[in-house]
Amino acid sequence: MKALVLSGGTGTRLRPFSYSMPKQLIPIANKPVLEHVLDNIRAIGVTEVGIIVGEREPEIRAVLGDGADLGLHLTYLRQDAPRGLAHCVQVARDFLGDDDFVMYLGDNMLPQGVAEAAERFRRVRPAAQVVVQRVADPRAFGVAEVGPEGRVERLVEKPEEPRTDLALIGVYFFTPAIHEATDAIGPSGRGELEITDAVQWLVARGADVRAEEYTGYWKDTGRVEDVLECNRELLDHLVRSVEGTVDEESVLIGPVVVAPGARIVRSFIEGPAIVGADSLVADSRIGPHTAIGRDVRLRGTHIDYSIALDGASVSGVHAVHGSVIGRSAAVSSGDNGIRKHRLVVGDHTEIEVAA
Ligand code: G1P
Repeated sequence: MKALVLSGGTGTRLRPFSYSMPKQLIPIANKPVLEHVLDNIRAIGVTEVGIIVGEREPEIRAVLGDGADLGLHLTYLRQDAPRGLAHCVQVARDFLGDDDFVMYLGDNMLPQGVAEAAERFRRVRPAAQVVVQRVADPRAFGVAEVGPEGRVERLVEKPEEPRTDLALIGVYFFTPAIHEATDAIGPSGRGELEITDAVQWLVARGADVRAEEYTGYWKDTGRVEDVLECNRELLDHLVRSVEGTVDEESVLIGPVVVAPGARIVRSFIEGPAIVGADSLVADSRIGPHTAIGRDVRLRGTHIDYSIALDGASVSGVHAVHGSVIGRSAAVSSGDNGIRKHRLVVGDHTEIEVAA
């Protein structure tokens, strides 16, 4: 079996971060979403991985390389524009050959892994198998109607009036039967070739299509709120490890990771929290569910339920909460002598200051 990871897409919902980095490289618990995805793929014994990329290919290559560090062999497949998930399968046609494959959306997090779904697909080997989860509002997703033994009776992409609460959650198992389907369908209302329509094409022709319910934690990391919530979920399973230096005036409580080269000075950290390699935390207080990247500088700052990306700096700011601070961004209370806010803010940035 091979894998096809979809990492094109523009990530408009993750602005401003997606202006400067592919959304799939946003770190959750200090590791890019895409690496979490690839870990799950390796865990089901698949090492031949094709990655669909768009114009952000160079940045993705710079992080993942040929995949050897992750125990994988990666092939980059360029899609000229986001033309839909079924179009990605067409782009990957030569790479996939006549192999079965798992298709995995590169911004979907399933921390409990997909081993059960993979095992069932390999055992039963239906023409296609989708992974579903019950959700409160299925209208934003592909929705499955499922009969006895998990047989899919109908799939609809983003229905206005969903007939079930079973959403497709971004992981699909396919036999080569999918190729005829992706060639047969036409574009949807949003002008894309939908994988949901391709699988429905198989269902309508009597093919054996199954649904496997995943009951673990799942998050499509499309928006900043999702990234923060998923970060919290992953940090809740953090195991304490202190490799950097912590001075005698600092206190660490609970599961805290201090990566090699990081320095904690006169600070208080309440886990779960991570401080990445070579970062400095001085005279600061880090609260639960916070991930601090590499080479970050925190001085005189209180921060919780937040993510600071590599190279960011925050000084003299108290009560930073629910925040994502971009790479090499600087936030400070300043000393401009006047009690005013000075903001140099890029497009689509969101800032909420205390009243
Ligand atoms: C895509 C699929 C949809 C699926 C969702 C999961 O939607 O088209 O069927 O439920 O991913 O995240 P999109 O994110 O492109 O709107």
